Amino acid sequence: MQQNKVNTSMNELLGSLVVFYHKLQSYHWYVTGHSFFTIHAQLESYYDEVNEEIDEVAETLLKIGGKPVSRMGEFLELSKIKEDNGTYISADELLGKVLEDYRVLLGLASSIKTSADEENSYLVSTKMDDLIDSFSKAVWMISQSMIK
Ligand SMILES: [Fe+2]
Repeated sequence: MQQNKVNTSMNELLGSLVVFYHKLQSYHWYVTGHSFFTIHAQLESYYDEVNEEIDEVAETLLKIGGKPVSRMGEFLELSKIKEDNGTYISADELLGKVLEDYRVLLGLASSIKTSADEENSYLVSTKMDDLIDSFSKAVWMISQSMIK
């Protein structure tokens, strides 16, 4: 993998995670309905996890001599995850959106892993294993919770 390609795709993942962090916190604040207490707490656990992943991705980039973006405008520009309206939303509706976002993150991490493996970039490849595991677990659990 060429340095530029790693830099670009890892920064896309970084920007996506930052936008996702704030989106999860917005849902944590604005979730409505009878499952408020459960979902409110679960969202906090998700954004705490994402916060650590943001730092992991940025520092992995630095370890390989890359440059993580660090400005809000750059995060928004590079993110593959779109912001939501920032207003009241039902648990069912937000879970569907969070599930789709975790699928986007899983796709990004998997694609970075494939490229890293082609170029024997072990550090990036290993870091993507952790993220793929974390995102897959979220996809599985949220999918289970949505079965009626
Ligand atoms: Fe809170």
